[in-house]
Amino acid sequence: MKVLVTGGAGYIGSHTLVELLGQGHEALVVDSFSNSSPAALDRVRELSNGWLEHEECDIRDSTRLAQVAVRFRPDAVIHFAGLKSVGESTRRATDYYDVNVAGTVSLLRAMEASGCGKIIFSSSATVYGEPEYLPSDEAHRIGPTNVYGQTKAMAEQLLTDWARAEPARGAILLRYFNPVGAHASGRMGEDPRGVPENLMPFLAQVATGRREALRIWGDDYPTPDGTGIRDYIHVTDLARAHVAALARFATLEGADAYNIGTGQGISVREMLQAFERVVGRPLPHEIHPRRPGDVAEMRADPAKANRELGWQAEYDVDDMVKSLWAWQSANPWGYGAPPES
Ligand code: NAD
Ligand code: WQD
Repeated sequence: MKVLVTGGAGYIGSHTLVELLGQGHEALVVDSFSNSSPAALDRVRELSNGWLEHEECDIRDSTRLAQVAVRFRPDAVIHFAGLKSVGESTRRATDYYDVNVAGTVSLLRAMEASGCGKIIFSSSATVYGEPEYLPSDEAHRIGPTNVYGQTKAMAEQLLTDWARAEPARGAILLRYFNPVGAHASGRMGEDPRGVPENLMPFLAQVATGRREALRIWGDDYPTPDGTGIRDYIHVTDLARAHVAALARFATLEGADAYNIGTGQGISVREMLQAFERVVGRPLPHEIHPRRPGDVAEMRADPAKANRELGWQAEYDVDDMVKSLWAWQSANPWGYGAPPES
């Protein structure tokens, strides 16, 4: 298939490109590089031989985006481009609605202009908000508790209404749990700007000495060791879920949502211990109060994706940590050069 990939230079997009090209698909990336570097696409090219081109373009530039789409005539779109920081979304609410919601409207108009009716969307487990039951399946109520989550829930609604408007359209909403890890080669991985908000990139920077100590946000949760439990999913497993989802368009009517997780819960302490095993030494950490907005536990029921997409997570926690460490230790400054001292 010819696939238009928005945000393809980002963390999940770049890993998905390698899997897509490896399966013989052709990809055109549209990315503003606001949170990524074209160097990530060079690494994708290094790891795969398939057809890959890119255009530097903001998805909110509807005229340009439509021109790009009309010229490429994609069979399907995978829509990763977006802003993703929960903390920042409160302070920059207008930007989050503009990029994540208005940007998606702009993309749908470009798809209409080019005659493409198939889209896979990067949604998030955050649309569920505080879990009512665990593991959460796709029928769980939608009730985001932060601005970022609201923009994802709105985009899901928008895509659902858009897909229902014409029989030839289809939207697949992939609700990612906690994507972590890196490509097995150690050549691609997550490259956050500034101080990482998420556990794994922060922990990796503690291990390289770039950060002093991991701050564990709370050890008084009602969990076996008191720290928060999440459903971490290897980024390569997540990438493959997108390739598997492309086949779902053959029978899809309207929109459908899928949880993409392993179904296994791992605590912060367990993740810290796994990291310590891989690096072979203790890592400095401190206990701090709970982070506002955090829940004790999130865990996916991935049965629907297993059944209907024919997809299943294959990698375990050790694979997640080993691949992350291979990437981080070989590229301590990500895709960029170290800062001048
Ligand atoms: P990322 O920031 O690494 O990738 C996003 C990409 O989109 C970047 O390359 C960025 O430059 C690009 N982009 C941002 N705004 C743009 C715009 N206006 N026009 C064009 N390109 C733009 O993030 P990621 O972790 O790869 O996440 C990809 C998608 O998955 C996002 O939509 C995110 O909300 C969603 N998601 C991520 C996670 C996670 O934990 N990483 C979890 C659930 C959902
Ligand atoms: C995981 C656990 C923290 C950092 C977020 C978004 C979600 C999705 C994935 C985009 C929690 C603890 C963390 C640290 C810690 N993103 N922690 N010290 O909050 O589950 O999910 O990222 O869609 O929408 O909400 O991920 O990695 O930030 O936290 O103790 O320095 O690690 O309290 O228990 P989270 P996370």
